[in-house]
Amino acid sequence: MEKVLVTGGAGYIGSHVMATLGRRGLRCVCVDNYANSSPEAIRRVEALAPGTVEAHEADIRDTDALRRILATGGVTSVIHLAGLKAVGESVAEPERYHDNNVRGTESLLAALADSPVRRFVFSSSATVYGHPQGVPISESAPTAPQSPYGENKLEIEGLLARLAKDDPSWRVINLRYFNPVGAHESGTMGEDPSGIPNNLMPFVCQTAAGRRPQLSVFGTDYPTPDGTAVRDYIHVMDLAEGHVAALGALAAARDGTVMTVNLGTGRGISVLELVQAFERVNGIAIPRVLTARRPGDVAVCYADPSLARQALGWTARRTLEDMCRDAWHWQSLNPEGYRKAAA
Ligand code: NAD
Ligand code: WQD
Repeated sequence: MEKVLVTGGAGYIGSHVMATLGRRGLRCVCVDNYANSSPEAIRRVEALAPGTVEAHEADIRDTDALRRILATGGVTSVIHLAGLKAVGESVAEPERYHDNNVRGTESLLAALADSPVRRFVFSSSATVYGHPQGVPISESAPTAPQSPYGENKLEIEGLLARLAKDDPSWRVINLRYFNPVGAHESGTMGEDPSGIPNNLMPFVCQTAAGRRPQLSVFGTDYPTPDGTAVRDYIHVMDLAEGHVAALGALAAARDGTVMTVNLGTGRGISVLELVQAFERVNGIAIPRVLTARRPGDVAVCYADPSLARQALGWTARRTLEDMCRDAWHWQSLNPEGYRKAAA
């Protein structure tokens, strides 16, 4: 059976990727240091796809640990999700972010160099586009990251491009995710942020659950139809299926291939549209206050997803309603996230 090394597999996106791969008959070797996740997520993956995950607690900066894990054999490709992802934290602690994200990737590549694995899928981000010059955003749009986190993503894309140039036996796909939201349809896996959520959907869910008194809508004077900022929200299960498609594309690709592909729906949704869809689908009112813009926020950001369709044969299928329903299903079944179950 084909094995995929999944770094950061216990995280929000990684757990959905592993469940999706497992249900397709692939085995995952997960490496995670649980810096921002819980081993309970692995147990949930195992419940959905029994016998498909081999989990290792390790830091990707520990090259020898990675070498030992790879030496067990059978891994044919890598999906590299491990990383720190809080934009504000990256501004406060740029060295820690560089060390974890960029040096971590260098360590992973050093370990892989001693193995037969040459297929690499990387979790990049639409944040590399910064303030876009126009929408929809295609992969050829200029990049201008606005944070150390975004710079890390671009630097890693550069490392991978150089790797495949120096050694054309590599095949690489950088996936630039837009705004992943939602949860597994079963309600057993989902996003479990620690502390006060930075992102919109988890904040909406916690407000619906009564954990937060109200949502602050950041900015009502954007040049958009309702004045609130517009994003490309994508269901995390569509995103997970995009990784399966990327592995398929890598299997069929020529050696030396390096592709950078947006994963988004191509549809822009405003903050108020998302909140109203959530209220309608779940029958819950979200108390909210309209406040000032959040510094650094982009007005409008959504993908041109046509390359993903052509190159990966993948298109997002799930609706905004699916995203809101599944996010709330997860939140209402797991009001404390994974913590209660893990204790
Ligand atoms: P997450 O924090 O839930 O998952 C990341 C995982 O990586 C966590 O389980 C964490 O414990 C692990 N990790 C971090 N540093 C590690 C290290 N040094 N060694 C081993 N494990 C380590 O985040 P996520 O939302 O699942 O994001 C996954 C990837 O996708 C990240 O690289 C992130 O930058 C990228 N991404 C996320 C989004 C988003 O909005 N969620 C958007 C674009 C890109
Ligand atoms: C969406 C919209 C907020 C919270 C971030 C990262 C990006 C990527 C995805 C990793 C914005 C508004 C939010 C709230 C609000 N991650 N909002 N009230 O900022 O598009 O992207 O996550 O790569 O790098 O920057 O997503 O969910 O934080 O915000 O009004 O309490 O919701 O202002 O317009 P963002 P988000």
